[in-house]
Amino acid sequence: MINILENISLKRYNTFGIDAKARYFVKVHSIDDIFDLLQTKQFQENRRIILGGGSNLLFRSDFQGLVILVEIKGVHFEGSTKSNTILKVASGENWTDFVELCVKNRLYGLENLVSIPGKVGAAPVQNIGAYGVEQKDYLHKVEYIDSTTGNIEVVDKDECKFEYRSSVFKGNLEGKAIITNVYYELSREWKPNINYKDIKQELDKFSFVKPDAEYVLNTVKRIRKRKLPDPLDIGNAGSFFKNPVVDESQFLTLKEKYPDIPYFLSNDKYKIPAAYLIEKCGWKGRSVGNCGVYDKHSLILVNYGNASGEEIYQLSENIRQSVQEQFGILLEREVIVVE
Ligand code: EPU
Repeated sequence: MINILENISLKRYNTFGIDAKARYFVKVHSIDDIFDLLQTKQFQENRRIILGGGSNLLFRSDFQGLVILVEIKGVHFEGSTKSNTILKVASGENWTDFVELCVKNRLYGLENLVSIPGKVGAAPVQNIGAYGVEQKDYLHKVEYIDSTTGNIEVVDKDECKFEYRSSVFKGNLEGKAIITNVYYELSREWKPNINYKDIKQELDKFSFVKPDAEYVLNTVKRIRKRKLPDPLDIGNAGSFFKNPVVDESQFLTLKEKYPDIPYFLSNDKYKIPAAYLIEKCGWKGRSVGNCGVYDKHSLILVNYGNASGEEIYQLSENIRQSVQEQFGILLEREVIVVE
């Protein structure tokens, strides 16, 4: 049974804690709920957004459409190969709970992605990643309902077109696909992925320990806790911008002027931490009205209390302008702005 509500505050449904209202709001707990929803006039006649944990979006104002909160639950064994196990995870499961469940059951691969806020259904959409791992590295396939036909569809990993914080769900299937289940293929053999600078440094502090998966999991949790604000304490949506990618000549020009500029090589291009650019522009730790730039990590915009979505949006525009003026790079938002 679905129950479509009207004029609902979205404050508790977005990690920025923005008090925007949804014209219509509905929770779906099963695939049948989604089929019922497709038949309603509120679905057919309105703009729609699908919410998982609400951890990667900014409501710029009230949303004059239908917000769909996906609450489908369940983790099931789907099959196994010689060294891997495939799990089918419902899109409404909490991401971190799922990662922890995997480690408890000795299924490895996703440890570095622990503590990323949000639900499983959002993981493939923006291809979440951290500390040298992306969810695509372990994804098997994605099941969704095509809201234009009402059919259940499956896309294999290759068809998902995963890129840095992007996928087909942000491309051709945007606004069409309601993700219902995500399948991950995890390894039963433990192979640590501990080359990312932050992890390495942290593990080196206790170099006498041979890290098992639980140890890496806890290390990542500790690093994130130190650097990233918990949305339960301070409203935020993780990295607000993507790290920009520049070509060699642009990089060399920048390097001449800023010899300490950090970078990661990615497909012969140079990925520069947006956090560095923002910090160099003097934004780190600055507050403007009710919002600001987090003092321990400049890629994170925070809501100190009652910021409106518009205030945070304006702050982000000012930051973009500074970075553009000083570095000639226009930052792209990672967070989705809902107007
Ligand atoms: N840095 C600064 N100032 C800061 C913070 C960082 O100059 O205030 C520089 C440092 O040189 C640091 C470098 O930026 O070495 C990279 O920082 P960090 O390792 O924290 O990673 P990031 O590039 O800022 C990305 C992801 C994060 C992910 C981390 C760790 C994006 C947009 N963000 O951040 O993902 O947790 O790597 O892998 O790619 C998210 O997407 O919401 C998110 C938090």
